[in-house]
Amino acid sequence: MQSTDSDFTGDCLEVTVERILPGGLGLAHAEGRTLFVALSAPGDHLRVQIERVKGTVAFASIREIIEASKVRIEPPCPYFGSCGGCDFQQMDYEAQLAAKVDIIKDCLRRIGRIEKPPEFQIVAAPNQWHYRSRAQWQYDSARRRLGYFESGSRRVCDVAECAVLVPALQTELEQMRERMIAGAIADDVRHFRAIAGDDDVSILDDKGRNPTVRTSATAAITISRTIIGETYELDAENFFQTNADLLPQLIDTVLDDNSGHTAIELYCGVGLFTLPLARRFETVIGVEGDNLASRFAQRNVRNVNLSNVKIENEDVGNWLAGNEQNPEFASLDFLVLDPPRTGAESRVVAGIISLRPKKICYVSCDPATLARDLKKLMAGGYTIERIKAFDMFPQTHHVETVVQLTS
Ligand SMILES: C[S@@+](CC[C@H](N)C(=O)[O-])C[C@H]1O[C@@H](n2cnc3c(N)ncnc32)[C@H](O)[C@@H]1O
Repeated sequence: MQSTDSDFTGDCLEVTVERILPGGLGLAHAEGRTLFVALSAPGDHLRVQIERVKGTVAFASIREIIEASKVRIEPPCPYFGSCGGCDFQQMDYEAQLAAKVDIIKDCLRRIGRIEKPPEFQIVAAPNQWHYRSRAQWQYDSARRRLGYFESGSRRVCDVAECAVLVPALQTELEQMRERMIAGAIADDVRHFRAIAGDDDVSILDDKGRNPTVRTSATAAITISRTIIGETYELDAENFFQTNADLLPQLIDTVLDDNSGHTAIELYCGVGLFTLPLARRFETVIGVEGDNLASRFAQRNVRNVNLSNVKIENEDVGNWLAGNEQNPEFASLDFLVLDPPRTGAESRVVAGIISLRPKKICYVSCDPATLARDLKKLMAGGYTIERIKAFDMFPQTHHVETVVQLTS
């Protein structure tokens, strides 16, 4: 007899993990249920406990490893399992890469209805540890905790040493901890954002204050990063790709062999792809909704005297709606989009299709929203030419995907 949902919660079952799903959980089946098992590895034979039931799906945690998968390793980080930052440390690196390829394929097939995508590779990270040059640290003033949220919770896991941070950010984290112990962090702080540049670190709290400067309310240090000859200035408030080691390859893949008259870059941030695009195209338009990021993008363009770039500080959907009939884009060579995790809004995809660029490059940090948007672009007459994945986030299930499309 099938248990009711509430009966089922707390039950222990023996399962074998089949594969890793988008979101990073392991898939298993038992007693007519589909189970999602946290922190598991494909091939693990486990005793799991049901934590939560949703319809025919149950979320489970590992109680006992009956027989470890061949790819299972001892997670090296002492916080693994409580800290919500990493969820792949239990797998060797080859298995992490394979799981990410499977995750992308799964999304393309299930969400994008793309049965036969082109074969693709994942580019391994040069550093599997100490690669992360941008971080957000949570602060709990009442409990004096500094670190990351615990998995699925708003409780702060106190982390003294984070194995994925670049050394400059680890040093900064240690200094912040010393300030915390000395009582020098304001009680109203909820989190800090930190980013490491080539020579410096920029850090701000959630109230926009630099915690290292007592006298100034808004004294974010501007840092700079030079990647394939282009220099980007920004501060801790801005988005920037987390794994600088892979950026030269990422930029090369996005640009590919494209050149021509006009290119548009949607969601351009501080101009990571805008600057190299401006070396290849006569006219480049970058669209960015965040005021500060677009100001840095303008500054980065000005710093190298590029007169063929215009940065539009506008919501991408609004900008597209206002430019669908713009004769300047009647023959558009190339469009790059690198939206946030939520992907492109429907009206953005529709706007892109009506602009009709000859080629599109979609850069995505979420395979599910990527697949959803690719389905629409393909229905709008585009074909996937090439896919390449980048392991920008080792030790986690996250993955960056670059897809080139042609009309
Ligand atoms: C994933 S980041 C990419 C930035 C840049 N391409 C890079 O790699 O550094 C997404 C960017 O889109 C911007 N953004 C998010 N939603 C937007 C919207 N609706 N309109 C315009 N920009 C938006 C964010 O501020 C952020 O800078």
